[in-house]
Amino acid sequence: MIPKAEIHCHLEGSIPPFLARELAARNDLALPDGLFGPNDTYIWRDFLSFLGAYDRVCGVLKVSRDFGDVIYSYLARAARQGAVYVEMFCSPERPKALGIPYEEWLASLVSGIDRAQREFGIVGRIIIICIRHLGPERALAMVERMVAEPHPYVVGFGMGGDEARFEPDDFGPAYRLAHDKGYGCTVHAGEVRGPESVWSAIRALPVTRIGHGVRSSEDPRLMEELARRGTVLEVCPGSNIALGIYPDRAAHPLHRLIEAGVPVTLNSDDPPFFRTTLGAEYDDAGLDARTLRHITRTAIRSSFADSDTKQRLLSRIE
Ligand code: ADE
Ligand code: ZN
Repeated sequence: MIPKAEIHCHLEGSIPPFLARELAARNDLALPDGLFGPNDTYIWRDFLSFLGAYDRVCGVLKVSRDFGDVIYSYLARAARQGAVYVEMFCSPERPKALGIPYEEWLASLVSGIDRAQREFGIVGRIIIICIRHLGPERALAMVERMVAEPHPYVVGFGMGGDEARFEPDDFGPAYRLAHDKGYGCTVHAGEVRGPESVWSAIRALPVTRIGHGVRSSEDPRLMEELARRGTVLEVCPGSNIALGIYPDRAAHPLHRLIEAGVPVTLNSDDPPFFRTTLGAEYDDAGLDARTLRHITRTAIRSSFADSDTKQRLLSRIE
């Protein structure tokens, strides 16, 4: 099995329907109507209704233990697919809305990560993400909380959510604080919006990676710039196709980006929502084993883990 590493996967987006049902039952919560489709899938139509379905799945989470169980469950599945490292996007907004203190939420995630490492040898780390459509003030407050309570497993800062809302520049203060305190930074861009969204992200924010960024392929000058800077794209082909950004794998720009020298990685984003897995992304990428191994090394090198952890991981996959 090819060793894999994933640097773009959302915690709540990793909850499969079976786990959503289990959590709802355990927490004595009713499952929302119209969430599940046939064959154990989630129902949504387009990007915004996907975000809505995502929020409704989040509704099965209630107590701090749930978050640790979700990360453990995902890391266990990823390890079985050959993953040695996963960096998970975790948003403190949900626990906050539930009244769970930040440090209690974090402790639960850490215990899930430790358990997965003990049982499967997989290394997990956390990227704190803000939600773009909730605005820049919430983002800055989140970074202030993150830097006030540092933990060695919290290695980076990022932003997901609705790309049509606000501009990257609006989040400059949050990103600069995270960067100045030594956190790696990434941002979703060039997924729903075009190459101009990637230009403004790399100009306005101290990011070394872009979440998705696939629409950079529409601008040769931008691909050149990403290659020159060594900015890594967290590519999620299954997600892009499920969301209708590209009709199929043949139309997906993964190979064009590689040919242009842009560093890429392969990721599952929100796997059960998009009927994908990390293993499927590697299997379906249409790339040879040598290139796939190179992609794993790129993911580890561009990860926000400390350099000792990266070295250990790199030597494990040789
Ligand atoms: N949040 C969860 N998945 C996302 C995606 N693919 N794009 C933006 N925000 C998200
Ligand atoms: Zn994402």
